Amino acid sequence: MLTKSQIDSKKLNPDSPFFKNALAPTRDETTLLFLLDNLGKLPTGFNGELFVPLLTHANPKIRMLAAKNVGKLKNEKFLTKLSQFAADESNTFARREAISAIGRMRSEKAIPILIRYLTDQDPKVILQSVRALLYFKEKPEIQTALDSLREHPNELIREHLASETKNKKSRRYNRRKDPHHPTSPDALKNVIAHADVQEVLKLIPDESIHLTFTSPPYYNARDYTIYQSYEAYLDFLTAIFKETHRITKDGRFFVLNTSPVIVPRISRAHSSKRYAIPYDMHPRLTDIGWEFIDDIVWTKPDHAAKNRNGGFFQHRKPLGYKANSVTESVMVYRKKTDKLIDWNIRQYDDETVEASKVIEDYEKTNLWHINPATDKVHPAVFPPELAARVVRFYSFKGDLIFDPFGGSGTVGYVALTHERYFLLCEKEIEYVERTKQMLDAHLFADTKPRSLSLTELESELAERNQNL
Ligand SMILES: C[S@@+](CC[C@H](N)C(=O)[O-])C[C@H]1O[C@@H](n2cnc3c(N)ncnc32)[C@H](O)[C@@H]1O
Repeated sequence: MLTKSQIDSKKLNPDSPFFKNALAPTRDETTLLFLLDNLGKLPTGFNGELFVPLLTHANPKIRMLAAKNVGKLKNEKFLTKLSQFAADESNTFARREAISAIGRMRSEKAIPILIRYLTDQDPKVILQSVRALLYFKEKPEIQTALDSLREHPNELIREHLASETKNKKSRRYNRRKDPHHPTSPDALKNVIAHADVQEVLKLIPDESIHLTFTSPPYYNARDYTIYQSYEAYLDFLTAIFKETHRITKDGRFFVLNTSPVIVPRISRAHSSKRYAIPYDMHPRLTDIGWEFIDDIVWTKPDHAAKNRNGGFFQHRKPLGYKANSVTESVMVYRKKTDKLIDWNIRQYDDETVEASKVIEDYEKTNLWHINPATDKVHPAVFPPELAARVVRFYSFKGDLIFDPFGGSGTVGYVALTHERYFLLCEKEIEYVERTKQMLDAHLFADTKPRSLSLTELESELAERNQNL
C-alpha cells in the first residue's frame, strides 16, 4: 500500500521509473487515485506526459485528477491535449479541471479556447474561464467577451464580473482603514428611546451601529400589536429593517429572531392559519441588501411547546398531524459589501480584538439548545443566553448594539454585561420602565443608561452635530 511519505520521497528523484509504473493506466484504480490525489506540488522536470494516457481512463475521477496534475505543470505544450480533452469530456468536474489547467498556463494561445467555454452549460466552467481570461483583461477582445456575460442568468457569474470591474481604486480602499468603523455617536450610547421605532430611525445617522439583534412584535398573535393584514405587517417590518440597513456599518451583522405564528380559528367551522414569518421575511431582507449568512435554530425543551397534537394523539388519522413547535429561527445576515470579514476585524486595535475573543466553550452547530425565559412584566422576552451568544459572536467590545423592538431590554442588559453599548426603541412605557428597572439593578456602565423621548433624543443628536 502506497503512502504519502513514499510519494514525497520518490518525488526527490522524478526521473526514477517509479512514476512511469505507478501512473500506468493499467494500474489498479485505488493506487492511481491515491497517487494522483497526493502528488502535491510537482518537482521541476516532472514528466507530464505520464498523465496524458490517464485523460482517457474509464474512471472520470482519474481523468479529472490527471487534468489537475497536468495543470500544475503550467506548460503550454499540453494546451492542445487539454483543449481536446475538455471538448470530448462529458463529466462536468473533469471539464472544470481541464479549463482550470488551461487557465493556469497564462498563455495567449489559450484565449480562443477559454472564450469558447464562456457559453458552457456549467456555470463553474464559465467561472473558471472568466477567472483565466481576467489575466488578459486589458485586451479589448477579452473585455467584449466578458461584457457579454454581465446579464448572465447565474448570480455568481454576474457578481464575480461586477466585483472585478470595480477598479483598482476600490480595492485599494478595501485595504485602507476606516477610523470611524469602531466608533459610534455618544448621543446614542445606552439609550432607551421611548417612541415608535419608525420615528426614531429617522433621527439616526447613517452607519452608526455595529449589530442589530431583535425579535419583532408577532403578527396578531399577542394583543399588543394589531396590523391590518399580514402583508401590512411584513411591509412594516421591511421598512424598519431597510432603515436598520442604512444605519448599520459596512459589512456588519443583523440577526433576526422570529418564528411562524398561528392565528387561531374564528369558529369550529374554520381552520386556524399559520404564517411562516421567517421564510416570508427572508426574500424581503435580501432585496434590501442584507446578505444571508446563517440559519440558526433556537430549540427549547419539549415541555416548552404549546400542545397542538391533542386531536391527532387520539384519532391518529393521517393529515391531522400537527407538530409541537419547540424551535424559533435566528437568521443571520450581513450588510452586503465587497469587503471580507477580515477587513471588519482589522478596523479594531489588537487590544479590542484580543479582549473580544470568544475564549470559553461555545456551540459549534446551528442548533442552539436554550431554555425559554419569562418576565413578570413583558409577555414575550427572549432569554439573555440567546442574546449573549449573538452579542459575543457578532460584535466587539465597545460596539453599539441596536434593538428596534426593545421590549423588556434584554439586549440592553446583555450588551452592558459584555462591555458593549446599546440603543433600544420601545413604544410602551411599561416596558421602558421595566428595562430601566432591570438595568438599574445591574449598573456598571461608564455611560449611564437613560430613557429619552423622541424630542429629547432629537435635541441630543442636534447638540452633538453642533459640537462636531
Ligand atoms: C417580541 S417583543 C421584544 C421582546 C424583547 N426581545 C425582550 O427580550 O424583552 C417586541 C416589542 O416591540 C415593541 N414594539 C412593537 N411595535 C413597536 C414600534 N412601532 N416601535 C417601538 N416598539 C414597538 C412591543 O411593544 C414589544 O415590546
